[in-house]
Amino acid sequence: MPESGAQMTRALVLSAHPCPESFSQALHAKVVETLEGRGWEVDDCDLYAEGFQPVLTEAERRAYHDEPENIEPVRDYVERVQAADALVMVFPVWNFGYPAMLKGFLDRVFLPGVSFKLVDGKVKPNLTHIRKLAAVTTYGGTRLRAMLVGDPPRKCVTRAVWHVCRPSRMRYLALYDMNRATDSARRSFLNKVSFEMRGL
Ligand SMILES: Cc1cc2nc3c(=O)[nH]c(=O)nc-3n(C[C@H](O)[C@H](O)[C@H](O)COP(=O)(O)O)c2cc1C
Repeated sequence: MPESGAQMTRALVLSAHPCPESFSQALHAKVVETLEGRGWEVDDCDLYAEGFQPVLTEAERRAYHDEPENIEPVRDYVERVQAADALVMVFPVWNFGYPAMLKGFLDRVFLPGVSFKLVDGKVKPNLTHIRKLAAVTTYGGTRLRAMLVGDPPRKCVTRAVWHVCRPSRMRYLALYDMNRATDSARRSFLNKVSFEMRGL
């Protein structure tokens, strides 16, 4: 049931882990289940399961600034982003960044005229219909280790993706130190994700 008095929210959930049995996929399932439980319409986009092709081709690079034809190779994905009021990204941290699958999604789909407009060479946000933004992620290393390299995935979400959406709500939910995480730490994080998705 939709939340009373509220307009139906449509969330695009982007998930990027190759293994269905992984903790990241358990987090993905928790996100989808919780948002659907709120009555949200969820577009569940599992990039590996959908066989997304993450490599920006030579032709796409050459046509990158050619609006609006630049969207043609990924039109379906662009329309899914444009239909969303909320965006939730679920991914493991690999080499202190996004997995290539998710990075490639941003390279190929967050195009000029889609996620931003270039005005006098400056990036102006163009996904301002996305009012809620969240990332749910896991790191093998500790938060200190991530901080020592500037924690790039945190900044990519909370600064770069934030900048093109300018959401009214944003959550960056991270479980650090997964290499040593106990079952209890994993369970607590699943509960935290569920709690935060209920309040997003
Ligand atoms: C290719 C690869 C690169 C990784 N790079 C990092 C890294 O740079 N920093 C880090 O903290 N953990 C790194 N890890 C550990 C993952 O973040 C960790 O395995 C993952 O968060 C655990 O989630 P999962 O069990 O769902 O895969 C890496 C793991 C893989 C497979």
